[in-house]
Formats: sequence, structure tokens, C-alpha cells
Amino acid sequence: MEKKQRAGNNRTLTLANEEIEPLRQKLLTQNNITTNTDVINKTLNGDILTMLKYIPDEFADLIIIDPPYNLSKNFNGMKFNSRSDDSYDDYLATWFPQVCKKLKPNGSLYMCGDWKCTSSLQRAIEKELTIMNRITWQREKGRGAKSNWKNGMEDIWFAVKNPNDYYFDVEAVMMKRKVIAPYKVDGKPKDWDESKDGKFRLTYPSNFWDDISIPFWSMPENTDHPTQKSEKLYAKLILASSKIGDIVFDPFLGSGTASVVAKKLGRKYCGIELNEEYCLWAEKRLQMADTDKTIQGYSDGVFWERNTLSLRQKTS
Ligand SMILES: C[S@@+](CC[C@H](N)C(=O)[O-])C[C@H]1O[C@@H](n2cnc3c(N)ncnc32)[C@H](O)[C@@H]1O
Repeated sequence: MEKKQRAGNNRTLTLANEEIEPLRQKLLTQNNITTNTDVINKTLNGDILTMLKYIPDEFADLIIIDPPYNLSKNFNGMKFNSRSDDSYDDYLATWFPQVCKKLKPNGSLYMCGDWKCTSSLQRAIEKELTIMNRITWQREKGRGAKSNWKNGMEDIWFAVKNPNDYYFDVEAVMMKRKVIAPYKVDGKPKDWDESKDGKFRLTYPSNFWDDISIPFWSMPENTDHPTQKSEKLYAKLILASSKIGDIVFDPFLGSGTASVVAKKLGRKYCGIELNEEYCLWAEKRLQMADTDKTIQGYSDGVFWERNTLSLRQKTS
């Protein structure tokens, strides 16, 4: 695997040659998997349609999907080509209904997309599940465009199998926000606290998320995956929509973010990914999670706004 030159303070994950084979041994592939194989806490290296056959129906409490968007993108040699909305709808129809079969009757599902593919995602989800919300994530980082608006947001669709029976723990995803106008009643703070880090208020999370950036090279969670999601983003989904010990399943695992965050938060996990190198990065991150359970931007059981945790840990 090709080695890149990096600046000294670049923390992007790398694999030493001697790490590759032991990590490869952990993967489930078509050569070592059968329908009796236990897929819990495993990374399945192969095509989604092949590997879904080895996942039991009604297996997952929570499914997180970050599919190839309707953009031309090179995933380590696997080129996904931008196409018409109709053919992207057809592409989703090849796998999405099958993924939904893996969700428990009281399970929840999140699916990420950008403005261009979000209508197709909504159409696909509505056929199988009940949509509960659409989260808008202000991604911040993005490439400027000369003849169009820079793309600075993504959608995360939230859906459930049964709107009368699903798990949602809002207390687990409270946000700690800096108080702009510290209002006092009888000389006492109204709904805010003062600590050595400043004046903060605990607030309920809305469906607009502006406290999370994409991983960048100075963050230890960063890999060379072209569309890696940040751990803080997935921590919100997993804490709100699963309990300790629940199973989190990601059929497009990439660099492993869903499995890694599930493990750090005491959940079980399973992921499918086509590219072997991405699977090896996922396994290395899972190994690192044995000794480091920190999630940047999440501390003391709350999510902090960007740059407010700088005294103790840098936030994303
Ligand atoms: C948007 S990325 C997911 C990134 C991931 N959320 C992360 O944090 O790293 C989509 C992933 O799906 C994988 N993929 C694309 N087509 C696939 C297929 N047919 N079967 C399995 N994986 C596939 C790509 O290799 C890519 O890593």
C-alpha cells in the first residue's frame, strides 16, 4: 500500500506493513463466512448484496447508512458515477429494501445524503419506513465553486419501522452552548452555569446541527477515506437511538466510523465495506478504541459547541 509524505503534526491514521496481515485476519470475507457465522462485532469485506445474505433478518437495533451520493467519486479504485435521478432511484432500490429487512421491528435508521440525492433518499425511505425527521448538518468545510453556491450542508434522514414503538433518548444528546446574554434573576444565573471554561447552558438538540465539522488531518480519528464522517456526528445518532448492548449496523462502513463509535459507547456493531484497505483502517481504529474511548466534542455526557472545549480537548 502506497505511503504518503505527511507534515509532522498530521495525525491521519497509517498502517505499518507488519500490521496489515493481523488486521486482515479479523475480516470476514466470502472465503471464510457461512450463514452460521456470528457477524456481531465484525467487519464484512465484500459487496453489500453478497454480504447482506449473511446478516440475519431483524438483526439491528440501529442502522446508519452513508451511501455513495449521486456524485462521481473514486473510492480507492471503485468509481461511482453521477447519474440521472431515475437511475439513482433504481440503484437505491437494488439494496435499500433488503437493508431494511435487517432492522428490528422497533429499530431506527439514519441515512445521509447531500442536496442532490436527498429527494431520492426520501422516496426510497418512504416506501419502507416512517420518516420521523430530516436533520440538516452544516458541514462547514467544502470546496468553493465559481459558478454555484458552495455545498456546506448535508441531510441525515431519521426513520423508524414503527412510529409507536421506537427508542429515543434525548437526555443522552444534550448540547452545552455558550451563553451569549447571561440573564440573571435575583442575582442568580437563569438556566445557565459558570465554570472555569465559561458560561454555559444545557439545551435540547434540534434538527439543525452546526457543531460538527468533517474530520481533518490534525484529528486522531482522521483517515485517507474521501468521505469519512466524524465520530461526534455518529455519537449523536447512536446515543439518541440505541441503548448500551444494542446492535448498530452500517452496510457502507467506509473507514469504520459507525463501528468505532458504537464500540466506544458500549454498543455491538457490524459493518459491510467493499474496499479491503478501508476495512483494515476500520479494524485498526477498532483496536485503538480498546484503549481510547474519547470522542472529540463529546465529554462529561454532553455535546459541546465547536471550539468551546479547547482548554481540555479540541472540539470539532
Ligand atoms: C460514503 S462512504 C462511507 C463513509 C463512512 N461513513 C466513513 O465514515 O468512513 C461509502 C462507502 O461505501 C463503499 N461502497 C460502495 N459501494 C459498495 C458496495 N456495493 N458494497 C459495499 N460497500 C460499498 C465505498 O467503498 C465507501 O467506502
